[in-house]
Formats: sequence, C-alpha cells, structure tokens
Amino acid sequence: MRVIIFGATGMVGQGVLRACVEDRGIDEILVVGRTPLNRRPAKVRETIHRDFTDFTAVQKDLAGFDACFFCLGASSAGLSEEEYTRITYDYTLAAARAVGADNPSLTFAYLSGAGADSTEVGRIMWARVKGRTENELLAMPFHVAVFRPGYIQPRGGIVSRTPAYRRLYRLTSWLYPLLRRLAPGHVTTTEHIGRAMIAVMALRGDGPALLSSRDINRLGAIDRPDGINRPDDINKPGAPEGVTPSPARTPCAR
Ligand SMILES: NC(=O)c1ccc[n+]([C@@H]2O[C@H](COP(=O)([O-])OP(=O)(O)OC[C@H]3O[C@@H](n4cnc5c(N)ncnc54)[C@H](OP(=O)(O)O)[C@@H]3O)[C@@H](O)[C@H]2O)c1
Repeated sequence: MRVIIFGATGMVGQGVLRACVEDRGIDEILVVGRTPLNRRPAKVRETIHRDFTDFTAVQKDLAGFDACFFCLGASSAGLSEEEYTRITYDYTLAAARAVGADNPSLTFAYLSGAGADSTEVGRIMWARVKGRTENELLAMPFHVAVFRPGYIQPRGGIVSRTPAYRRLYRLTSWLYPLLRRLAPGHVTTTEHIGRAMIAVMALRGDGPALLSSRDINRLGAIDRPDGINRPDDINKPGAPEGVTPSPARTPCAR
C-alpha cells in the first residue's frame, strides 16, 4: 500500500506517520509539507511544497496512491475567517483534487474536529468552515472519511506545533486517564487516529463516512502485528463492535 500524508510535522500528523511507518502493510509513504521532517525513516519520501493552493508542479508525484491522510490544519484562534478558510478549505480541497485526480479508488481521510457544522450556517466560524470543507470532500468521486475527534491525547513524546495547544496539553495531560474514564466517547489519542486512518483505507469505502472519537477508538484499537487492518478483522467476533457503514456517505444538506 502507498499513502500520502499532509501535515506530518504536526501533532496528529506525527502520530499518523508513526502508525504508517510501523505498519508492515504500507510500503511507501510520501509526506508533503512546507517544513522538513526532523527524521525520515527508510520508507518515507518527502516533498517540500510552498503553495498549498496549487499542486500543478508536483501533480505527477501525487498520482496512484491508495490513500491520503490529510492532517494539515490550524487553530482558528487569532485568524480572520478569510485566513482560516484559506488554510482549512482552500488547502484541503486543492490537495484532494490533486491527489484524487483520475484515482477513484483513493481513500481520503480528512482530519476535521468534533462540532464541525455540516449546515455551514451556524454561528461558530471554525465549525462552519470545517463543515463546508467536509461537505465538499464528501461530494468528491473517491472514498472520503471525515475524522471528527474531540480531545486528542498526544502519545509517544509527540508535541503540538501550536503553542496554545502545547500549553493546554501541559495542563491537561495528567487528567487524560480521568477524561477517558468519564467521557470515553469524546477522547482519543494520536495513536488511535493513525491506526484508524489505516483501517479506513483497508475498508475501501465500506467504512463510516463520519467518524466520531468513539468510531476512531474502535477502528484504531484493532492492531494486526502482520500488517494492515482488514475489513474481515473488523467484522469478526471479538472485534470492536459498532463500526458500521454510515448513511452519511452522501453530502449533508447545505
Ligand atoms: N489537537 C487537537 O486536540 C485537535 C482536536 C480536534 C481536531 N484537531 C484538528 O487537527 C488538525 C491538526 O491539528 P494538530 O494538533 O496536529 O496541529 P499542529 O500540531 O499545529 O500541526 C499542524 C500541521 O499543519 C501544518 N500547517 C499548519 N498551517 C499550515 C500552513 N499555513 N501551510 C502549510 N502547512 C500548515 C503544520 O506544518 P508546519 O510544521 O510546517 O507548521 C503541521 O504539519 C487541525 O485541523 C485541528 O483543527 C486537532
């Protein structure tokens, strides 16, 4: 399997990259970003790109992948709607169009967030922009899985690129075991997101289109030592329950 990761230098992207490196079913990983990785494992190739609204220059390098794990994103704090839309909506859709061109079997896993507003008309700016981005993606002619995690606990020494998040994690990390016990449906980890993205790729469009933290934790809990999670692992007795194709495969009303 061949995968592309956007945002691999970020908190979640680092977790996804690590899961892909560890997965023996993934042979090739292409990382696309503006900042080089600190360390590049053997099966990882890297493309440094500057203009995330235009991938024409690297279009041919993006062809023929099984999946794209899109973890690039920014906090809306301090950004105008126009600035936040550029990073969240314009960059994501430009990347999806470039990676998905002539590739109907692609799985595009998009890292959104709990509370994204599918109606696109709510009062919260970031939620509207994320909802609009999700809706456009879900209408594209390949498999799209929208990840909507709530609280994400970084694992394995991973840190956020966002200073405000770093401060928040310093305060909340010790609370995570309690949070997980009190609100298991609202928390997940970078590790679970990485493994769940790989599982979604293996489902080839038969998985849920919208994944809550609970769905992410179920899919990400399946860990095959010999490679990629398969749909039959997910459906067999003893597998985490409740991962069913979502009726929300079609775009939400706008
Ligand atoms: N952290 C959470 O608890 C949480 C919860 C729910 C949803 N999310 C969503 O998950 C996504 C990623 O979050 P994160 O915590 O991993 O963020 P992060 O640590 O700040 O990483 C962001 C990633 O996006 C890239 N990026 C940001 N702005 C960019 C720009 N203008 N041009 C090119 N690349 C850019 C960064 O690249 P550089 O290394 O080059 O800066 C980095 O790879 C966001 O959309 C966020 O809304 C996060």
